[in-house]
Amino acid sequence: MTTAICPGSFDPVTNGHLDIITRAAGIFDEVIVAVGNNPDKKTLFTIEERVALLKKVIDDTGLKNVRVDYFEGLQVNYARAQKAQVIVKGLRALSDFEYEFQMALTNKKLAPELETMFMMTEHKYAFLSSSLVKQIVLFGGNPEGLIPPVVFESLQAKMAEVRERV
Ligand code: PNS
Repeated sequence: MTTAICPGSFDPVTNGHLDIITRAAGIFDEVIVAVGNNPDKKTLFTIEERVALLKKVIDDTGLKNVRVDYFEGLQVNYARAQKAQVIVKGLRALSDFEYEFQMALTNKKLAPELETMFMMTEHKYAFLSSSLVKQIVLFGGNPEGLIPPVVFESLQAKMAEVRERV
């Protein structure tokens, strides 16, 4: 049985993430979408909100071999605890490469038995990021085709909440 984890911040999940998760689900017996916190990033959604949103979105895909979870600490420790063999990451343009390369090599040093595998993003999502989607929604643009409708609704609600606080 091959288990892969797809770690990320997913703040929030986009169609680009979903594309990678769906393709990974076609290759591995089990895929665990693992929501973590990047200590260098401040997130809009809490980890509980990101997990809940991902669960809804994955449920809607009907993928039976994908589950959503969260982790604290190092992703390699989480992968080991789940008995995963592979870490799957999506790669967009050149901009992702240096960061992902550094992370993959660091993870290899920490856990040599784990492999990191990269999938090139679908070209239609090559420009897409959670940060850009947040800006589109914040300034009233239309993110159709970039995020699932349920994510759009949550983003609109969250933006209203944030606006009320300032
Ligand atoms: O690609 P992302 O969304 O920035 O990834 C975020 C996340 C949470 C998956 C990543 O930052 C992470 O795993 N952080 C936990 C610490 C860790 O294991 N870092 C990588 C090796 S040092």
